[in-house]
Amino acid sequence: MINQWEKIDLNDYEKHMSDPAVFQLQKLNIITQKQIKDYHPSSLLFLGIAGGNGLEYCNEIENVYAIDINQKFLKACKKRFPYKNIKYILMDLNKDELELTKIDLIIANLVFEYVDEETVVTKLLKVMNEGGILSTVIQINNENTFVSRTKYSDRFKCLEDIYHDVDINYFDNILCNKKFKKLLYELYPLPNGKAFLRLDYQLGN
Ligand SMILES: C[S@@+](CC[C@H](N)C(=O)[O-])C[C@H]1O[C@@H](n2cnc3c(N)ncnc32)[C@H](O)[C@@H]1O
Repeated sequence: MINQWEKIDLNDYEKHMSDPAVFQLQKLNIITQKQIKDYHPSSLLFLGIAGGNGLEYCNEIENVYAIDINQKFLKACKKRFPYKNIKYILMDLNKDELELTKIDLIIANLVFEYVDEETVVTKLLKVMNEGGILSTVIQINNENTFVSRTKYSDRFKCLEDIYHDVDINYFDNILCNKKFKKLLYELYPLPNGKAFLRLDYQLGN
């Protein structure tokens, strides 16, 4: 069965996300730059790379892996960032296995809203270095609908079938029960009453 994200057009997605009333693409770009700068990884894995937001900060990283379920998104990324250090992987994080090892940093921005948290965290554990970092951005809707209103927003209605709010306590429990410890909790307000929560965890005791 096709995943609802495979029905989304990248141009619509990026226009919507970068609309001044939404401002999420720009905010995610700033956060991604910080996530990379904070940890200086040699190996970096992006979950849900969409159109490649933040890949411009990866020039000096030895191995970069970028996963998405939407083949057209990955094709666009390859065209925008055709670099030897970046490998693009088409997969469904809920269903497929990750064939990677020794990852220093995993960036998962606005992805856990669309996957089963425990299933994916269990997979991540197996591919990370001891001491490796999982850095995530979670969307806080503050009573607003999860898709903000723009002239493109109707095109994302299909995502309602697979979206869920991430329950921060539940998410935190999953990670802490799997040998992760919390390093960072940072809130970024957005223009329309929503916010992004950056949560970073380190694997190990
Ligand atoms: C909101 S976008 C992520 C935004 C992006 N990380 C950024 O910083 O701009 C969610 C992305 O996750 C991908 N995605 C959703 N479910 C997925 C799954 N089960 N497996 C892999 N990728 C998935 C979507 O195709 C989409 O590109």
